[in-house]
Amino acid sequence: MSDRVLIVDFGSQVTQLIARRVRESGVYCEIHPFNKVDAASLAAFRPKGIILSGGPASVTLAESPRAHPAVFEMGVPVLGICYGQQTMCAQLGGQVDEHEHREFGRAFLDVTADCELFHGVWNVGAREQVWMSHGDRVVALPPGFRVVGTSDGAPFAAIADDARRFYGVQFHPEVVHTPHGAQLLRNFTHRVAGCSGDWTMAAFREQEIAKVRAQVGKGRVICGLSGGVDSSVVAALLHEAIGDQLTCVFVDTGFMRAGEADQVVSVFRDRFNIRLVHRDASDLFLAKLAGVTEPERKRKIIGATFIDVFEEEAKAAGGADFLAQGTLYPDVIESVSFIGGPSVTIKSHHNVGGLPERMNMKLVEPLRELFKDEVRALGRELGLPEEMVGRHPFPGPGLAIRIPGQELTRDKLDILRKADAIYLEEIRNAGLYDAIWQAFAVLLPVRTVGVMGDARSYDYACALRAVTSTDGMTADFYPFPHDFLGRVANRIINEVKGINRVTFDITSKPPGTIEWE
Ligand code: XMP
Repeated sequence: MSDRVLIVDFGSQVTQLIARRVRESGVYCEIHPFNKVDAASLAAFRPKGIILSGGPASVTLAESPRAHPAVFEMGVPVLGICYGQQTMCAQLGGQVDEHEHREFGRAFLDVTADCELFHGVWNVGAREQVWMSHGDRVVALPPGFRVVGTSDGAPFAAIADDARRFYGVQFHPEVVHTPHGAQLLRNFTHRVAGCSGDWTMAAFREQEIAKVRAQVGKGRVICGLSGGVDSSVVAALLHEAIGDQLTCVFVDTGFMRAGEADQVVSVFRDRFNIRLVHRDASDLFLAKLAGVTEPERKRKIIGATFIDVFEEEAKAAGGADFLAQGTLYPDVIESVSFIGGPSVTIKSHHNVGGLPERMNMKLVEPLRELFKDEVRALGRELGLPEEMVGRHPFPGPGLAIRIPGQELTRDKLDILRKADAIYLEEIRNAGLYDAIWQAFAVLLPVRTVGVMGDARSYDYACALRAVTSTDGMTADFYPFPHDFLGRVANRIINEVKGINRVTFDITSKPPGTIEWE
């Protein structure tokens, strides 16, 4: 088993970034809520190092969270970040106070002494940019600690106990605004904790294949394939693990982008040789949605129809013992909530939500431990085409929620598909695809008057949307150069019969959402 680091979460907004940085250094880690960590769970997890995250509470309050004492008694290195540093100090005999000199955002740290954490990164006497977010601060060190860095607002901004290999930093090394933060975390995992850094996607692939084989045995697995990154990677991985015990069901709603349905079939059936059921259910979906314009009803009908069709095809394929799902790590991390105690956040993809219970199958979730960018890396490792692996997110209901406020018809879907294809082709040609989180066209329920040649036109307007985001929770519009927008608009109006006007959506999220419905 690879070396492991445990991240004890005190509820910081950026705890996941600690995990990302640790994994980027080739070390497997997990995030556990502070109140689920005790001597038994630590013994079971066997971390080579422990990182205490930041958090919104104040150590100066008696009821605020603490790390389980076993964290400091295991004999493994501990790095406390922000709140993690403060609680470590308070618990080991130091003192933390509220202070009127609060530090938020960019700050500077004066490196006052060498330590393993700074090795090869920061030198004594340097003044280094860091990112701070704290009101409280450490004012007296616990026995055994020495100060190695100071800032204007924090006299003990970085501290070290070399004998016990305990380190504390008031700043956040996990964010990009601490430019050398990733190197400091790497020093902690590699130099201090002695992790070997052998957790790669190649290693994960082997380990996960063995796990799937052990879980599934001779059982049969069914997997819903959508053409998106997650289900594609699940399918490719399972196929490698269990071959023909896997059947993939691709329910073609008719709401996919130009060429995508064909690509799913050609990649998985023809290239990977996966047992694939391809059901073109576009007539059924359109029939069920006849006359429906209200977004929530649309979504519910699509979700329910999807489940019906999927179930039908799964039965026709002979049933299965397991259902494979592309659940990712951010969906399963238990979040620390200070209102009403810790709660579990699980984002249910509406496509498959409710399926496992209804079909009485056990779940296979081989991506449960991965972040999205790791899933992409695994997809590349498995030989999936770059076009599939690097694809923007695409919602389950597809183009159906990009024809807002109007009844869906095949004609409108075709018009939208053409406009969307031109838009994305131009984005790819301009080399902008990877700089954008999601980009798509929306067919508006308005027809407008135009003049084409010498004739009057009366056609649909379409909107172009492109956003940047890191997780889809917040987003900003992508600032295309005007000449790019002009070129796309020109092409769409010239090449897509049925559209005579193009607009660009400059709404951020919040207050907008990414999709229009
Ligand atoms: P919104 O529109 O809520 O979208 O800002 C956030 C992200 O989620 C995607 N999305 C969905 N994905 N099933 C999905 O699998 C859905 O029903 C769904 N609705 C929205 C959306 O494309 C964006 O990436």
